[in-house]
Amino acid sequence: MSVIKKCLFPAAGYGTRFLPATKSMPKEMLPIVTKPLIQYGVEEAMDAGISEIAIVTGRGKRAIEDHFDISYELEHQIAGSDKEELLQSTRDIMERCIFSYTRQVEMKGLGHAILVGETLIGREPFAVVLADDYCITEGDGVLTQMVKLYEKYQCSIVAIEEVPEDETYRYGVIEGDLEEDNIYRVRNMVEKPAPEDAPSNLAIIGRYILSADIFDVIRNTPPGKNGEMQITDALQLQAQQGKVIGYRFTGRRFDCGSVDGFIEATNFTYQSQSG
Ligand code: UTP
Repeated sequence: MSVIKKCLFPAAGYGTRFLPATKSMPKEMLPIVTKPLIQYGVEEAMDAGISEIAIVTGRGKRAIEDHFDISYELEHQIAGSDKEELLQSTRDIMERCIFSYTRQVEMKGLGHAILVGETLIGREPFAVVLADDYCITEGDGVLTQMVKLYEKYQCSIVAIEEVPEDETYRYGVIEGDLEEDNIYRVRNMVEKPAPEDAPSNLAIIGRYILSADIFDVIRNTPPGKNGEMQITDALQLQAQQGKVIGYRFTGRRFDCGSVDGFIEATNFTYQSQSG
């Protein structure tokens, strides 16, 4: 059995890029064709052998909890019809996973959201999925690939991908030494650098494995860009001790936190399902 048993989903952000759609609906519930983004993330975690799902929510995010619960009235209504099949995937998830939730009361950044999740994780290494990064792979899912890597390196791991140089300002960007094919020992990380300040074009995307001490590290990290607690700044402290691996995963990522990425993912998925 995998040593990574829990996956944290920070899902408290406002999702302002999707207003007005996200005024009262969580961004994580936006569907790619018929399945909400967060369900793809939970399925990826399950494929990696993880069954404890911890979600950091906030105001207006109750639909996430309802999604991973029984809807008696609806299920009664469609019982015996061919529509029953459409709920099979959520039933499977509910049978195999345990969900726990906590709320981030003030949105003080991703690092802060992860710290809020400490109460659900405890003191053990864990995975983090940002559900708006929707990843498609042909073989193992991205988290499965990363869990395998954790068994070897036993330290924090960030998923990275090459981005166009004029887009580095949207990501945490790493500088590192190649250890093996697609695997970097991270030396330095910069949050949202301008292209001229970026140490590389290798950007961190929304999949992490974090070592058990990360909460202490976040607590000791001063607020960074925009006064927010950035996970990149905390990881930078671990990187200085050689304890962060950057992994260029196999697969394709869609940035579904942006309208363009969301539409692209929708078209791609629809075409692959219907063709
Ligand atoms: P984003 O940077 O995409 O921010 O957060 P956002 O608020 O969700 O969306 P926009 O930019 O306003 O459109 C990255 C991830 O971190 C979570 C978000 O839910 C998202 O999964 N997050 C961010 C929190 O949980 N809490 C925060 O305080 C900030």
